[in-house]
Amino acid sequence: MQEILFVNACTRPQSRTLRLARHVLAGLEGQIQEVELYREKVMPLSPEEVEQRQQLVDTRELEHPLLSYARQFAQTDGVVIAAPYWDLAFSAVLRAYLERVLVAGVTFRYDRQGVPQSLCRARRLIYVTTSGGPIGGLNLGYGYVKALGETFFHIPQIQCLQAEGLDVWGTDVEAILGQAMDRWDTGMDTTL
Ligand SMILES: Cc1cc2nc3c(=O)[nH]c(=O)nc-3n(C[C@H](O)[C@H](O)[C@H](O)COP(=O)(O)O)c2cc1C
Repeated sequence: MQEILFVNACTRPQSRTLRLARHVLAGLEGQIQEVELYREKVMPLSPEEVEQRQQLVDTRELEHPLLSYARQFAQTDGVVIAAPYWDLAFSAVLRAYLERVLVAGVTFRYDRQGVPQSLCRARRLIYVTTSGGPIGGLNLGYGYVKALGETFFHIPQIQCLQAEGLDVWGTDVEAILGQAMDRWDTGMDTTL
């Protein structure tokens, strides 16, 4: 059975991003492992953790809890990230999580030329977001995650499902969410 890692950076029980992400997950085959970033209180790496992490990698103590998010990410077959559109990108908790996932020696390694080589299994990453206003071409959160996925993890299929303008006065939120789900289901949507 394939494993899907669901990275949940949503803040609210009634989150529209979460609804879209759950729709995507329902269409995927595999066992879902969810990481709820706010519930787990994922924090940015402290200076002490940066030091300790390097030591752990140098001494190949890769089972240490400090490396658990990176280990989990490396071992999954697919990734779904749900991240509301904040400040043209995403919230700080997702950035903190990504800091803990990008570990040279666990999720990627540098070759002799300094080029990153992936140590991850994932073949697909789906980034789900919703915004209050228009996103236009400024989905910087997705652009960033896509760049990480391509550069460090060499994930061949990286897609985005987004629903825009949900906080605009008079908007039919249900209709926009429904359209996004339909686009996803018919395989038409998805990238920037
Ligand atoms: C801290 C914060 C920052 C936000 N920044 C933006 C933004 O830059 N552009 C935008 O269109 N909407 C922005 N929004 C609105 C959210 O993107 C929008 O309400 C989204 O649908 C929330 O997702 P949720 O329903 O999953 O919580 C922001 C909301 C919050 C709370």
